[in-house]
Amino acid sequence: MAKKNPRGGSAVAPAVNTRFVTLAAGICALGGLLFGYDTGVISSAILFVKGDFALGSTAEEVVVSAVLIGAVLGAAFGGRLSDRLGRRPVVIAAAAVFTLGAIGTALSPAVGWLIVGRIVVGIAIGVASFSAPLYISEVSPPAIRGRLVSLNQLAITLGIVVSYLVGFALSAGRGWRWMFALAAIPSLLLGAGMLAMPDSPRWLEGRGRTGDAAGVLRRIRGTRDIDGELAEIKASLGQQGGGWRELFGPLVKPALIVGVVLAVFQQMTGINTIVYYAPTIFQAAGFRSSSAAILATVGVGVVNVGFTVLALLLLDRVGRKPLLVIGLSGMIVSLGLAFALPGLLTNNGWFAVVCLMLYIASFAIGLGPVFWLLISEIYPFRIRGLAMGVATVVNWGANFLIALTFLSLSSALTQSGAFWLYGIITIGALVFTVRMVPETKGRTLEQIEAHWRSGKHPRLMGK
Ligand code: BGC
Repeated sequence: MAKKNPRGGSAVAPAVNTRFVTLAAGICALGGLLFGYDTGVISSAILFVKGDFALGSTAEEVVVSAVLIGAVLGAAFGGRLSDRLGRRPVVIAAAAVFTLGAIGTALSPAVGWLIVGRIVVGIAIGVASFSAPLYISEVSPPAIRGRLVSLNQLAITLGIVVSYLVGFALSAGRGWRWMFALAAIPSLLLGAGMLAMPDSPRWLEGRGRTGDAAGVLRRIRGTRDIDGELAEIKASLGQQGGGWRELFGPLVKPALIVGVVLAVFQQMTGINTIVYYAPTIFQAAGFRSSSAAILATVGVGVVNVGFTVLALLLLDRVGRKPLLVIGLSGMIVSLGLAFALPGLLTNNGWFAVVCLMLYIASFAIGLGPVFWLLISEIYPFRIRGLAMGVATVVNWGANFLIALTFLSLSSALTQSGAFWLYGIITIGALVFTVRMVPETKGRTLEQIEAHWRSGKHPRLMGK
């Protein structure tokens, strides 16, 4: 099923075997589903774990945040490994760890065991969060790379909604063990699916395995005519050194800054205060019954999924940067509207719902998918895993910090004050995006790499 690249935009416009690359991206995106599910499920599970293990508030916080600590660790060690061992083995290893973690946490006899189990699950999340987009990016043709990589973000949002629904369904029976155990199903599917997939042609070529790289390229492009693309990959691999020195070297520094700063902004603009605390916010806004608050939360999750689908449809047409600008502007408006006017939120439940929906829709169309997409595209091959790992560590670290500080920030500044602060940070994110973020739409990974070597400003990419 070989098709011509419909949009072009690159010197070497590869044919598209859409079915194969979509399948590969879909399997890999199960890592995203687990990311969303395993981070979301704790909000329901903790209600019962707390009672069964008689936890105090510190122990409760440790159980909730253990997964974030694991994710920082996983991202810290996984990046280098995916450069050394290959993208595919690392995703398979993450799937094995996910499975182990799901079964281990479900069987926890005591709280210590549960905490270790959640750290193990977190390690798998940390690894999967960057290695899934990395693999998808390296097998995708440029014309649809945005959509394919962002399948992972779509899966994250689906995982979050599924975790809310599973939590809701199993609450009556206090079934927290099943909440954790169910994650074993997508984990096993991820592992089995990736075993059937080839490694990325770019990684194979980087290891000098040209024959294998050519074979995979033929398979994933659905054509024998891959010489141009292979030559382009080869040429770019000959250019660089690799390792920490290159990562901090002058040529890669702009890309490093873009990834790390966007990682901070993706979290510091407050997304996970909504994902983790939406029911609490809704209760403060006047939804007194907890089932109404949970239902409103499911609504927020569904809007997140819906607008991520819209982003998928637009990323390769409109480009990454315009969506980021539109999304950040929408976040600023919604944060400003609701939260800069203290008193509007409290006892004004429907107004809170509308603002939260607008906020999450704006995140879903911009910063959500675009951050993970850009960090899978902008780094040169030899340090791609390492650099993505660094941006991912920063992302999970910032996530941890926000989760830890939101409640105390809310009591120090009031909830409105906390969101007002996120609004100011979002303005910073918008200014940074306009000035520094490159447009990668339609360009091959090798063309993006060539841009850094030319020493031109990131903003000029594609111009
Ligand atoms: C972020 C997560 C967030 C999720 C919400 C992801 O891109 O990295 O922290 O929970 O989007 O959809």
